[in-house]
Amino acid sequence: MRKVVLIAMSMAAMVASAQNRQQQTEELPGLKETYAEYFMMGVAVNQRNVTDEEQQALVKREFNSITAENDMKPISVHPEEGKWTWEKADRIADFCRQNGIKLRGHNLMWHSQMCDWMFYDSKHNLVTKEVLFKRMKEHITTVVNRYKDIVYCWDVFNEAITDGPRRPAAMGPDQPLRESTFYKICGNDEFIRKAFEYAREADPKALLFYNDYNECDPVKCDRIYNMVKEMKAAGVPIDGIGMQGHYNIYGPSEADIEAALTKYAEIVDHIHITELDIRVNQEMGGQLRFSRNEGNAVTGDQRLLQEAQYAMLFRVLRKHADKVDCVTFWNLGDGDSWLGVDNNPLLFDKDYKRKNAYRVVSRFNPAIDNAVIKEDFVPSATCQPRQNYPQVNSQGYVRFRVEAPQARYVIASAGHGGGMGGTVLHRQDDGSWMGTTLIPEDEGFHYYTLSIDGATVIDPGTNSYYGGARWMGGVEVPAHDQAFYAERTDIEHGNVQKVLFPSKVNGDQLRPAYVYTPAGYGKDKKKRYPVLYLQHGWGENETTWPVQGKAGIIMDNLIADGKALPFIVVMTYGMTNDVVFGRPFDRNKISEDFGRVLVDELVPYIDSHFQTLADKKHRAMAGLSMGGMETHAITLARPDVFGSYGILSGGLYTPEELGGRKVDYIFISCGSKEYPDRVTTAVDALKAAGYNAEGYVSEGTAHEFLTWRRSLYQMAQKLFK
Ligand code: XIL
Repeated sequence: MRKVVLIAMSMAAMVASAQNRQQQTEELPGLKETYAEYFMMGVAVNQRNVTDEEQQALVKREFNSITAENDMKPISVHPEEGKWTWEKADRIADFCRQNGIKLRGHNLMWHSQMCDWMFYDSKHNLVTKEVLFKRMKEHITTVVNRYKDIVYCWDVFNEAITDGPRRPAAMGPDQPLRESTFYKICGNDEFIRKAFEYAREADPKALLFYNDYNECDPVKCDRIYNMVKEMKAAGVPIDGIGMQGHYNIYGPSEADIEAALTKYAEIVDHIHITELDIRVNQEMGGQLRFSRNEGNAVTGDQRLLQEAQYAMLFRVLRKHADKVDCVTFWNLGDGDSWLGVDNNPLLFDKDYKRKNAYRVVSRFNPAIDNAVIKEDFVPSATCQPRQNYPQVNSQGYVRFRVEAPQARYVIASAGHGGGMGGTVLHRQDDGSWMGTTLIPEDEGFHYYTLSIDGATVIDPGTNSYYGGARWMGGVEVPAHDQAFYAERTDIEHGNVQKVLFPSKVNGDQLRPAYVYTPAGYGKDKKKRYPVLYLQHGWGENETTWPVQGKAGIIMDNLIADGKALPFIVVMTYGMTNDVVFGRPFDRNKISEDFGRVLVDELVPYIDSHFQTLADKKHRAMAGLSMGGMETHAITLARPDVFGSYGILSGGLYTPEELGGRKVDYIFISCGSKEYPDRVTTAVDALKAAGYNAEGYVSEGTAHEFLTWRRSLYQMAQKLFK
């Protein structure tokens, strides 16, 4: 007999889906192909990226536009008057020529990494603007001419606009220009106009861009917009705006990104995202001083926030694909990033493997992009009295809201659409946080918690449900077949009571169990009932089946409708075993630990305190997930105790392990999103071996409670008949 099995099927399923995800990620086409209908996909490269064979291959697979990270900047090609250093720039240009990849020229003029010699004379005094313009023209003309055949667009001027708040009206008009040496020499924006004119003269075909960071900040966006608009009106040849896109996991907001794209599109025909990365700290933009997050591991929350930010950004970009021509990542892998590897800012890790962020960007669903969410949200059935959130709409979208005015971020652990492990909430004007799942959730009950700045808490709007080895929040998406667990006023209800039974396994103590007795139980002292021992899953407890499982309600409805015989259901705490989620465990140990509690302590207690039919034929055991594995282990180890067996999303039986023993009824089930084929195959084999076995697959559900409510509903109709 196989001694060691994986603890819970949920775990096995999770491992399988992670592997699946990995494989699917590896099989995805390159970004340039994925986004072919939307925009070009570009990357900023260093010398290693275009010389190392593996990195070359990655660039070629994923991207159809390249920017030189540093090697075409003024200081790189023109360090001194009359001295030109082309080698590195040429290597990148040649790589593009050889591989048919387009080259974005970056950049012709910038206050940083500039040929500072242009600003000064031999005595280190600032030159006149005439001298500056002459030097600029020579530089621009030479560089543009050299790469004319391969560069399709140039960042002509980089970062000429200042950051910072708008000057108060009382102090006169806003001063939009950065106080650069260009500005000091000229006193106005003529140097920008000149740069564009020289570039256009040198190459009338190349698209000419003004490029800047913090370009979604409403104040800076206005300044960029006003400047470009005014210059274009005056005939300055500006074709496009480069939105650098040095973002972080907290911002910019969707609204600010959309507003900036929309404004820029009013005045230019070409918008490029030129330097995209999403760092894990709160800094943003192109400033050259920032924290590299050195030595800090990226937390799960940070990863999720980043994935959500990437997902949101690309959703917005796809929506505005008519305005956006090209999206360029600033560096290839995290190890190349100017922000430092520990900022984790890109889609490829330091080993150039695709990260989950890649998958989130790549595996989008155009139908979700265009989904219209109906505003008919109502409070979930799980809300506490007088609380209004979480809410659910008629399509199954879930909306979360929580008051956390001082929080930096809030994530709900529910909502797994788009390949992400949760839903990011956003700060509202009133200080609350709100978020809606990306796609409708499956019907039924879902556990969730909130992470508020990394502290895991229960949403104060919901009731508490035990799961995940702690109390959690829950949300209920009404199921189309919810009538079977509806709380009906037209029928008699049974009773769920808590009992405490003495136990000696693992030291003297009282152990809890909930006991469901059907309506009318106890009226006739002579009437005796069969008993189902029904177990919860890993991390759950004795309250799980009666509360989120609605076991008593389901039984009441079945019995009132004459579909099930009246029987007792006993639900006890099954985490007695020394089991750790995700670790292999010993099946024999279960039957020794929990098996002894159940069979040697609880069964006799129930038989002596309730009106039971105390024999094997009238005793069944079933469980969900880990409880299914307990059922499997205990029924096999103690063949004389239970007459019927049920495994719900917790494994299978084989004819071999049953070894020809007499079993009245075997029920095996799971959700259609679990492993339905294996259930069917196992049940067929049992039937072929002569067992009275039945399989059940819950349509449209996964490893969650609607699967198990439905399973109980099905199984209870067959037990003890
Ligand atoms: C960065 C490079 O990535 C770094 O290697 C270099 O040390 C500084 O410049 N805005 C720009 C880019 O337009 O050229 C900058 O690139 C990042 C900010």
